[in-house]
Amino acid sequence: MTINKHILLGVSGGIAAYKSAELVRLFRKQGAEVRVVMTKSATQFISALTFQALSGHPVHTELLDVETENAMSHISLARWADCLIIAPATANIIAKLSHGLADDLLSTLYLAATCPVYLAPAMNQAMWNKAVTFENIERLKKHGVKIIGPEQGDQACGETGFGRMSEPVDIYNHLTDTIEPQTPCLQGIKVLISAGPTREPLDPVRYLTNRSSGKMGYALAKAALKAGAEVTLVSGPVALISPENAHLIKVETAEQMYKAVLSEAVNHAIYIGAAAVADYSPIVINSEKIKKQGEQTTILMQKSKDILAEVSALTPPPFTVGFAAETQDLEAYAREKLTRKKLDMIAANWVGKEQGGFDSEENALHVYWAKGDKTLAMTDKTKLAEQLIRLIAERFNNE
Ligand code: C5P
Repeated sequence: MTINKHILLGVSGGIAAYKSAELVRLFRKQGAEVRVVMTKSATQFISALTFQALSGHPVHTELLDVETENAMSHISLARWADCLIIAPATANIIAKLSHGLADDLLSTLYLAATCPVYLAPAMNQAMWNKAVTFENIERLKKHGVKIIGPEQGDQACGETGFGRMSEPVDIYNHLTDTIEPQTPCLQGIKVLISAGPTREPLDPVRYLTNRSSGKMGYALAKAALKAGAEVTLVSGPVALISPENAHLIKVETAEQMYKAVLSEAVNHAIYIGAAAVADYSPIVINSEKIKKQGEQTTILMQKSKDILAEVSALTPPPFTVGFAAETQDLEAYAREKLTRKKLDMIAANWVGKEQGGFDSEENALHVYWAKGDKTLAMTDKTKLAEQLIRLIAERFNNE
């Protein structure tokens, strides 16, 4: 991927400033032009020479520097930029920007910039949690500034909490996704997605189900639509709005999902099984409400048909992608499923150990295929779905 963009990187004075050197490298590697502006305190953490060498341009530090002014004034620098990213953004620069102060080059540039602006905050967790910082961030968001991170973890000051700057690669991914929209990688391809839980009734008022919100499957449907695909979504009961332009088939039980998916799969080039299908369902569904009896009870259940395995056994099979939620030995179990169910790809995630996964806004995925694997870092499910769809399209177009 080539990025034909002008990236203006602002570096303010935080210990995370050294990480921004990597950000310059990542953008340059993809062909973007990068110019760097440093605050005075940033130069105490990392030398301007480092950024000069990596960006291939002198670093801008002074608002009224005669030489730099001649080469590129703060106004022309602001006009030059397709995007301004401040990483790290300290509590001080955040406060200044949120109040429109312009007492140095970086804060002046922010005011002069008409391009999208991104901040990657980095500070001590107590500073991040301070109400005034929160208010400053909210104000900036209201004015259209995009905030990336911060992340949770160990801090240079020895404390633990939210305040670590997001990793350069995550900042890079976030920016490239928004400033350089992808060419539709699944244009006209028919994609079938199953999502959500299933409900296995016991009687007219009770059912067995699992902790699935359907968010990942719905996010995948939206991402596939954005990538140009024609999407059919077979969904268990969820509290989500159906993606516009997707063909939605609502089901309840594992058996209904099986029938819907199998009849659709033959007309689709890709099948993504993101539903949490019940492994077993009660053999007898009582027509009347079951009455309380005795201290214990037993429900006899029948194993459900494996939808994914049956789809991949079709001739010819669609490109088949499964999910695996595991509490232990993630790679071993995921790879075993990949082989046993004859899948083209499997997206695995920890449940219970990492944050995210089931019924959560965020998730991280480890994706495996026969000859490779890729980790997609913890992020919101919309972003994650877009990354996964891109990866699926890459593999699908390769095979
Ligand atoms: O075997 P396991 O349930 O862990 O596999 C998970 C994957 O298999 C998911 O992609 C899920 O949608 C799919 N699956 C299925 N039919 C089942 C059970 C799981 O398609 N009966």
